[in-house]
Amino acid sequence: MSTVNLKGRDFLKMLDFSKEEILYMLDVAASYKKKKKEGIPHDTLHGKNVALIFEKTSTRTRCSFEVAAHDLGMGTTYLDPSGSQIGKKESIEDTARVLSGMFDGIEYRGFGQEIVEELAEYATVPVWNGLTNESHPTQMLADMLTIQEHLGKLEGVKFVYMGDARYNMANSLMVTCAKLGMHFVACTSKEYFPDAKLVKQCEEIAKASGGSVSLEENVMKATKDADVLYTDVWVSMGEPDEVWAERIKALSPYQVNMKAVENAKDSVIFMHCLPAFHDLKTTIGQKVYEKFGLSELEVTDEVFESSHSVVFDEAENRMHTIKAVMAVTLGA
Ligand code: CP
Ligand code: NVA
Repeated sequence: MSTVNLKGRDFLKMLDFSKEEILYMLDVAASYKKKKKEGIPHDTLHGKNVALIFEKTSTRTRCSFEVAAHDLGMGTTYLDPSGSQIGKKESIEDTARVLSGMFDGIEYRGFGQEIVEELAEYATVPVWNGLTNESHPTQMLADMLTIQEHLGKLEGVKFVYMGDARYNMANSLMVTCAKLGMHFVACTSKEYFPDAKLVKQCEEIAKASGGSVSLEENVMKATKDADVLYTDVWVSMGEPDEVWAERIKALSPYQVNMKAVENAKDSVIFMHCLPAFHDLKTTIGQKVYEKFGLSELEVTDEVFESSHSVVFDEAENRMHTIKAVMAVTLGA
């Protein structure tokens, strides 16, 4: 029996949670996943309602919150990037107090981490971070569950992140790996290394957990014997189109391709939070191709479609883990 109790807690960033709490949420998610697969109802939160605020677009996160809430018996209200007064006509503080009077929990996806932190400060119900510029904690639980399922463990796993390591994904992955005793490597050019203060903090955390954090510009050194190769888009939501040129120049050497995969362990898994630019089947992918002549960006189509790729398991696990986050913080 776990002694962890997360009822009433916010879910804002991984730094706020202990190893024990993270592993507990993964266990709860695995148990909900099993129930869902076996068709066992788990709608124990009947009568509750959650607000889903999205100031940036989404496929996985929105669908996960909606399906998970419905499976738990809850109602949802979706506020799209243009459909609310938030920040424009009404302050975050006032929004938090209004929504707390109607809803049992609030999800927020948007820009600065300080916005979701402020929302949580004034809300009287749990607030869940559905992605900010600085962190993407719900994605972390899905990623860790996927690693557990495919590699059978988390501790001791060599996790190599390639690409822009200064943004939400790399930040959150570095913290999570450090907490869980994994060996995190940011493999990128030094201008794209994560924030030095956060690296230092993660090094301290890793020391206690038996993990490690390292920064490496050399692809062959970094990917040697890796258990996990991970990447994310080179230009994130909310960034201007003008940054494509510098990103392509700096990050092309850090594309996840077969050379990197072959240098890793035979059992290596390829992960990506998605969406990914691995072919020309998107309008942005087409535009980048017309301007820069590249038909695949952060990952090659060959790796994305290979047997190493677990990206669609990872996407499915967003739903099971988001369900766990809502359930444990609402006390299902
Ligand atoms: N990975 C992720 O957060 O996907 P969406 O942007 O589609 O929600
Ligand atoms: N870094 C990406 C992650 C998308 C899930 C972004 O913020 O757009």
